Amino acid sequence: QRILFVTPEIADFVKVGGLGDVSSALPRALAAHHDIRILLPAYREVCNSPLDIRRVGHLPARADLPACDVGEMTCADGLVIYVLLCPELYEREGGPYGTGPGGYGSGGWDDNDIRFARLSLAAAEIAAGNAGLDWLPQLLHLNDWACGLAPAYLAWLGIKVPSVFTIHNLAYQGLYDKTRCAALGIPESAFHIDGVEYYGKLSFMKAGIVFASHVTTVSATYAQEITTPEFGCGLEGLLLCKAEQGRLSGIPNGIDDSWDPRTDAHLVQAFSANDWRGKRANADYVRHRFGLAPSSGPLFAMVSRMVHQKGVDLVIEAAPSIVQAGGQLVFIGSGEHRVEAQLDRLAERYPGAVGAYIGFDEEKARCIYAGSDFLLMPSRFEPCGLSQMYAQRFGSLPIAHRTGGLADTIEDGVTGFLFDEVSQASFMQAIQQAFSVYHSTELFYAMRRAAMTGRYHWRQSIAPYTRLYQKISEEAGVEVP
Ligand code: ADP
Ligand code: GLC
Repeated sequence: QRILFVTPEIADFVKVGGLGDVSSALPRALAAHHDIRILLPAYREVCNSPLDIRRVGHLPARADLPACDVGEMTCADGLVIYVLLCPELYEREGGPYGTGPGGYGSGGWDDNDIRFARLSLAAAEIAAGNAGLDWLPQLLHLNDWACGLAPAYLAWLGIKVPSVFTIHNLAYQGLYDKTRCAALGIPESAFHIDGVEYYGKLSFMKAGIVFASHVTTVSATYAQEITTPEFGCGLEGLLLCKAEQGRLSGIPNGIDDSWDPRTDAHLVQAFSANDWRGKRANADYVRHRFGLAPSSGPLFAMVSRMVHQKGVDLVIEAAPSIVQAGGQLVFIGSGEHRVEAQLDRLAERYPGAVGAYIGFDEEKARCIYAGSDFLLMPSRFEPCGLSQMYAQRFGSLPIAHRTGGLADTIEDGVTGFLFDEVSQASFMQAIQQAFSVYHSTELFYAMRRAAMTGRYHWRQSIAPYTRLYQKISEEAGVEVP
């Protein structure tokens, strides 16, 4: 089946968080079974890559969305990526969503409505055959709010191509003033409660949910959680309705073969389960890089966007107790400036015991997964979470809130630790448990081994996505080979 996978980020070129990893790995996993290609804005990093970009199509302007060309590039492994060439919208210094903290949210580019409406409309027009490509998708797979208008444009243009809309994080919704509708080519008649209206605003996220043939999210637990007021961000009613119609499901993310401590070239020493000397070499390296003293105590880590979602405030509050009990802590991440400053202060207050790197650095992140004993992830909500899976694969036991994908991918007391409430008491209890396991070496090593042999690979996701693609294609009357 010919599928166009549309995304605002892909780890090959630009990665803000987990969606970048998913966009790189999932289509590659599905490629053995489907003719799947990517559509991505031609950001500066894309244009500067050594891969050749051939101009293969063109799209006219519509409303305030400028005309653009479609380029085609082929990755070394054969994955085909269509890129939307529109320098005025995409070739900028800064992240895919803006220069602001944490990528997705505040600090976004002022014209993000135009930038991502352009991406969404391009997807719909490619499906309609309007771009002049020699390849025509039979299905669109769209990701997060940035692609949310695509199913709506399909509907408004009368294009009968089925679509899957995947929610990676319901909290980032793409909300704009209703006066923007005309500029984005949104018909006035669509601005109502059963359309794109959300509490008086225009919502890209809601457009995706309302108009897609099927909505997925990235874990079974989060799929259920978002139908409740606590996690539904005001969209719970609509999502519950979709669930009752059988049009909302959870398909968990996985991890790809690049996350393997036996082969990862970023590590100072490769290692496998039971080779604790190899793991120790990575721990020594992390301690050295982060200015920590040599120690035989446990090394705790946090690798994360430093935003409210991730519960970094809980970790900061727990830090003094961790240090007092003989533990050390490393942080890597960027996000809210207030939080970044707090992390810097913490590291100054506990020299040799707490280290922080404010920024995004793939190599350091991987070394930290490899070198740490425990990964802290007290997320308030977590659609799936990849960090806890990477940590397990690298023998670092996650300590996480029992929510979303964390609840689905960590076995409490077997491959990590889960606590029930987002409270300091509940989190501290899990940390104390981790200390006690660390000191009963046999049990600690047994948990590490169990974590490292975890089964969360993208292979698991192929069958459920394939079944879903087939189902919605049949419903739409598309012939599937
Ligand atoms: P989210 O998508 O909400 O940020 P995930 O756990 O799904 O959370 O994915 C986060 C991804 O970003 C992981 O690949 C993680 O290793 C990576 N990451 C987060 N912060 C950093 C950082 N500062 N440097 C390098 N990688 C990071
Ligand atoms: C989002 C979520 C995260 C998920 C990732 C990839 O950014 O916050 O939980 O793993 O998307 O789906």
